[in-house]
Amino acid sequence: QRTNGLDTEEMAGHDGCIVVGYAQVGSESDWRTTNTQSFKNIFTEENGYYLIFEDGQQKQENQVKAIRNFILQDVDYIILDPVVETGWEAVLEEAKEAGIPVILSDRTVEVGDESLYSCWVGSNFCEEGIKAGEWLENYLKEQGREDETIHLVTLQGTSGSSAQIGRSDGFEKILKKHSDWVMLEKQSGDFTQAKGQEVMEDFLEKYDDIDVVISENDNMTFGVIDALEAAGKKMGTDGDVIVISFDAVKDALTVMQDEKIMADFECNPLTAPLVEQTIRHMENGEEVDKVQYVEEGYFDYTMDLKSILKDRSY
Ligand code: AHR
Repeated sequence: QRTNGLDTEEMAGHDGCIVVGYAQVGSESDWRTTNTQSFKNIFTEENGYYLIFEDGQQKQENQVKAIRNFILQDVDYIILDPVVETGWEAVLEEAKEAGIPVILSDRTVEVGDESLYSCWVGSNFCEEGIKAGEWLENYLKEQGREDETIHLVTLQGTSGSSAQIGRSDGFEKILKKHSDWVMLEKQSGDFTQAKGQEVMEDFLEKYDDIDVVISENDNMTFGVIDALEAAGKKMGTDGDVIVISFDAVKDALTVMQDEKIMADFECNPLTAPLVEQTIRHMENGEEVDKVQYVEEGYFDYTMDLKSILKDRSY
């Protein structure tokens, strides 16, 4: 029989469950909604779990507070989706001292001592950024524009998050190879539609020669599209602007049919099944891989999006 620090009222009827405290980033995007739901679907009592869910509202201090509460509650596992990469040492040390394993989901942390967490289950953000750069390279070549000067802007995700850092760094690796690709400006839109629109409006006021918009998630991209349409700009093969996005949620693939997004690099939100499998291995005393990537692909305007959308779950 498991014992933990949860008061008897909270634990009534949950005896024997594996208690998991989950510190989620927030609810800033469609991607995030799917990610949260997948945890709620999998970490159920039917499957032997009691899930304590905390929404950090995109603030590290809320997530730190949530982890400290999980430690007080003596949960069996902590799942952390860290809003930013740095500043976790102290609280992870506290979890380690309390003997509670921490599993990172989606984003990762930068810590000197990697024994502060058991493993990370998430996306290869840098690879996503590289793939986006390579796609643009090929597209411009196909269009016979490889020798043209190309003006770009980037809407970055939450500054200091591993999703932002990885995607920006990955794209930069390809950008560096092209002296005629000019990055006019990068600004954070914090992964939200409202800020994405605000940032794009600002870019449009400053620059009238934007050829390519790199937007580090779909919700910011929806804001970008609204701003471009309001400014009378056309997107797509025959348009003024090429929009490249990340996540590949259903609504983004839907507007891709009109070439409002030309290519979208998938970020798989279904980390919960791998996290749950990892916990089962840990329960059996088995070793787990320190880094576990979820599978992800990409989509572009040339694909049969209608059929893709029929089978897409998110
Ligand atoms: O960490 C994953 C990123 O965070 C997704 O790209 C984005 O939509 C979310 O908010």
